[in-house]
Amino acid sequence: MSLLIVLRTTILLLCLNIVFIGTSNGLSLPEKSSYTCVIGAGYSGLAVSRYLKQHGVNFTAFEAAREVGGTWRFDPHVGVDEDGVPVFTSQYKYLRVNTPRQTMEFDEFPFPSTTPTYPDGPCFYKYLKSFVKHFDLMTNIQVRSLVTSVTWAGDHWDLTYFRTEDHNNYTIPCDYVVIANGQYVLPVVPMFPGLESFQGTICHSHDYKAPEPYTGRRVLLVGAGASGLDLTVQLHNITAKLVHSHHLKYTKPNYSERYVKKPDIQGFVENGVVFKDGSFEEVDDVIFCTGYEYYHPFLDESSGLTRSGKYVMPLYQHIVNMRRPTMTFIGVVNRVITKVMDAQAAYIASLIAGKFELPSEQEMLDAWFDHAYRHKTAKEINTVGPEMDQYFAKLSKEAGITRNPPVLTHIRDFNAKNRLEDLFNYRDYDYEIIDSRSYKRWYNGGGKRGEECPIEAS
Ligand SMILES: Cc1cc2nc3c(=O)[nH]c(=O)nc-3n(C[C@H](O)[C@H](O)[C@H](O)COP(=O)(O)OP(=O)(O)OC[C@H]3O[C@@H](n4cnc5c(N)ncnc54)[C@H](O)[C@@H]3O)c2cc1C
Ligand SMILES: *[C@@H]1O[C@H](CO)[C@@H](O)[C@H](O)[C@H]1NC(C)=O
Ligand SMILES: *[C@@H]1O[C@H](CO)[C@@H](O)[C@H](O)[C@H]1NC(C)=O
Ligand SMILES: *[C@@H]1O[C@H](CO)[C@@H](O)[C@H](O)[C@H]1NC(C)=O
Ligand SMILES: *[C@@H]1O[C@H](CO)[C@@H](O)[C@H](O)[C@H]1NC(C)=O
Repeated sequence: MSLLIVLRTTILLLCLNIVFIGTSNGLSLPEKSSYTCVIGAGYSGLAVSRYLKQHGVNFTAFEAAREVGGTWRFDPHVGVDEDGVPVFTSQYKYLRVNTPRQTMEFDEFPFPSTTPTYPDGPCFYKYLKSFVKHFDLMTNIQVRSLVTSVTWAGDHWDLTYFRTEDHNNYTIPCDYVVIANGQYVLPVVPMFPGLESFQGTICHSHDYKAPEPYTGRRVLLVGAGASGLDLTVQLHNITAKLVHSHHLKYTKPNYSERYVKKPDIQGFVENGVVFKDGSFEEVDDVIFCTGYEYYHPFLDESSGLTRSGKYVMPLYQHIVNMRRPTMTFIGVVNRVITKVMDAQAAYIASLIAGKFELPSEQEMLDAWFDHAYRHKTAKEINTVGPEMDQYFAKLSKEAGITRNPPVLTHIRDFNAKNRLEDLFNYRDYDYEIIDSRSYKRWYNGGGKRGEECPIEAS
C-alpha cells in the first residue's frame, strides 16, 4: 500500500515535472493597483467581473463573440461566426435548463420569484443580460476580442488577442489572468472504423441547433449524457427512426415506437452503422453527443501547468495555478452545479483584491496531493462531485465569501436522480428553498409553464 503511494507520488511528480526548489516565493502577489484580464464573458466571466467591480479592481474581460452570455447565447452559425471566430456556444432551440435555477443563480441576484424552476435557454440568457445591466459590467467588457495567447513574462502575463473589428492583434500586460473560457467548447468525437466512408451527415451536439431539420429522417444518436438525453426527447417522435447507441442505466420513458436502443458501435459503412451485437441500422444522419474536453489553446508551457483535454494540474482548490498563482481558472471542475462557478469567481476576486492570502507553495501542493490520492486517475483530478458541499465550505472559509448551503447539494442530487427516473416530466415542478437544509417541490401543471419568463429583455 505505502509502496504504491510512493510510486504514485513519484509518477505524479514526474508527470507534473514539479521541482520546488528552496523557498523562493512565487506567491508574493502584485500590488492592489494591478490590472486583471479575464478571458470570456459567459456565466463565469460575468460572475468574476461583478465581484472584481465590487472590490474596485481594475480589470477588462475579453470576449471573443459580439455579445456576452457564452453557452446561453444562441448563435445560428455553425463552426465560425460572422467574424470568423469559432462558435463557442452549444445552445439549441427549445433547450430548458436541466438543473433547478436555484442551483445556477448568482449570489444575491435571484430570478424573479415567479420564474419557473426550469426556465428555457432564452430566459436564462435574459437573466444574464439583466445581471450585466444591474452591475453595469459592459464598461469593463471588451467584445470581439479572441484571446490567442497568454505567456509568462517574468513578472506579469502578456496576453494577446485578435480584435475582429480591425483584424489586428494586440498584446497587453496583465498582472492577473482569470481564465473563464468555458468547458463545453471543444467537442470530442471518438474514432470509429469506417466513419470516413459514411455518406450521410455527421455532426456533434455542439453544432446541433434545432430538431426540425431531422423531421422524417433516420437518425443515429450516440451517447446519453445531458445533451444525448435532451436530443432524444427532441427527436424521438419527429424522426422516421431514432437509433440511440448508449449504455446509460435509466428509466426509459415512453418514447415513440420509432425509437430503437442499441449497444456500442462497431463501425460505420456507407449507408449505416454496425453495432457490437452484430445488428445493422441504415441511417441518414449521425449526431455525436459524446462530450467535450478542456480547451485552453492560448496557454503554453510558460504557464507551468500540465494539461490535456481531460485535466489541468496542479490547481489549488481547482482554481489557482500553483506554479504561477496570478493565473486562476473558473470552471475547470466536473460534476458540480453552476453556482460553483460563482463561488470560484468570488474566491478569485477576493484573492486579487488582497482580502486573503494563499498558503505556501508546499501547503498548496500538500492539499493537492491529498485530493489527488482520493481521485485515482488524472481524468478524475478536476472532479468535485460528491465533495461539492465541503468544497463550498472550504472556499468560503478560506476566502471569507458566502457559503452556499447544503440544500443546493440536496437539490442537485435529487434532480440528477429524478431526471433519470422521469425524463419527460422532471421539469414540470417548481422548487422553493425553505432553509439551508430543506426545500419544497410541487407539480406546476407542465404545459406552457416552462416558457414563462418574467424578466424584461435588457
Ligand atoms: C448545451 C448546454 C446546456 C447546459 N445546460 C446547463 C443547465 O441546464 N444547468 C447548468 O447548471 N449548467 C448547464 N450547462 C453548463 C454551462 O456550461 C454553465 O451553465 C455555464 O454556462 C458555464 O459558463 P462559462 O462562463 O464557464 O462558460 P461559457 O458559457 O462557455 O462561456 C465562455 C465564454 O468565453 C468565450 N471565449 C472562449 N474562448 C475565448 C477566447 N479564446 N477569447 C475570448 N473569449 C473566449 C466564449 O465566447 C464564451 O462567451 C450547459 C452547457 C451546455 C453546453
Ligand atoms: C487600468 O489598467 C489599465 C491597463 O494597465 C490602465 O491603462 C488604466 O489607466 C488603469 N485604470 C485605472 C483606473 O487605474
Ligand atoms: C494575428 O495573429 C494571427 C495568429 O494568431 C496571425 O495569423 C495573423 O496574421 C495576425 N494578424 C495581423 C494583422 O498581424
Ligand atoms: C414529442 O414528445 C415530447 C415528449 O413527450 C412531447 O413534449 C412533444 O409534444 C411530442 N411532439 C410531437 C410532435 O408529438
Ligand atoms: C405511450 O405513447 C403511445 C404513443 O405515443 C401512447 O399511445 C401511449 O398511451 C403512451 N403510454 C403511456 C403510458 O403514456
